Amino acid sequence: MEVRTLCVIGAGTMGTGIGQVAAQAEIVVHLLDNAEGSVARSQSLLQKNLQGGIDRGKITPEKADEIRQLLHWETNYDRLSEADWVIEAVFEDMAVKDSVLRQAATLVRDKVPVATNTSTFVVKELAASYGRPAHFLGMHFFNPPPAMKLVEVVPTEETLPEVTDAAFALCERMGKTPKLAPDIPGFVVDRAYGALAAASIEVWALGGDPEAIDSSIEMGLGHKMGPLRTADLVGLDVMLAVLRSLHQQTGHPRFEAPAKFIELVESGKLGRKSGEGFYRYGG
Ligand SMILES: NC(=O)c1ccc[n+]([C@@H]2O[C@H](COP(=O)([O-])OP(=O)(O)OC[C@H]3O[C@@H](n4cnc5c(N)ncnc54)[C@H](O)[C@@H]3O)[C@@H](O)[C@H]2O)c1
Repeated sequence: MEVRTLCVIGAGTMGTGIGQVAAQAEIVVHLLDNAEGSVARSQSLLQKNLQGGIDRGKITPEKADEIRQLLHWETNYDRLSEADWVIEAVFEDMAVKDSVLRQAATLVRDKVPVATNTSTFVVKELAASYGRPAHFLGMHFFNPPPAMKLVEVVPTEETLPEVTDAAFALCERMGKTPKLAPDIPGFVVDRAYGALAAASIEVWALGGDPEAIDSSIEMGLGHKMGPLRTADLVGLDVMLAVLRSLHQQTGHPRFEAPAKFIELVESGKLGRKSGEGFYRYGG
């Protein structure tokens, strides 16, 4: 399965980053997004990512130009018929994903693999929306895709083994490290981190000091970044949505968000992006 042309549906934070790493691997990329302003936002995010890469000595200005030339933005889905591979990265909303995948199935060629970058839905359900489950699987990239090495590859029972193998090969070509993950809510990383984060948030809600909780876990478990610092970075609204989704899908009390945490999020303290969460940032 030679991949020369990749279509990424949804040119947001993840779609743009995935497009960039594919272009870095010399793949022609079409980023498809239907929202007003999304193309400009995606182009400026790409520019910021590339400049960051140049500043840190990760890519040369010449390579950045090559990447720019391989990326194209479209506000319709026509290019799907030319794709050798498709990655869906639209909003984490089942109705939106369902409609996008149904439309994609009318345009994508029969044996072309389609991957979803969903974080919280089971892949099997999205495979049913797409309608050709043998050529459908999950490829869960981490944010920001240019920097994060891991991709969880999530086949369903119906995914053809050669499609899973091709997903591994594509990740490696993009300089990523693919790991097989089971098709369960949260896959591996969000499920394990969700449980640790919820337990740490509970300790905080019971009176624990954020810095003491984080540094204890960093030192005691050898983690690079404690769970509350990580939650502030992810965004506490996103963290709450992840916990709610895991709780709703699994029924495990371990994913229940404490009331004090819900109050924190509802008061607008969303972590780094709002200047305050478990910690205060800036001035
Ligand atoms: N942000 C993260 O940290 C992260 C990490 C891993 C996976 N994910 C997953 O990646 C996916 C995208 O997340 P994101 O953070 O990039 O979101 P985002 O909001 O930054 O981008 C989503 C993009 O999809 C576009 N879109 C919405 N409906 C569309 C449609 N019908 N057709 C074409 N484009 C459409 C939007 O205009 C937007 O540009 C979600 O499934 C999310 O769960 C996110």
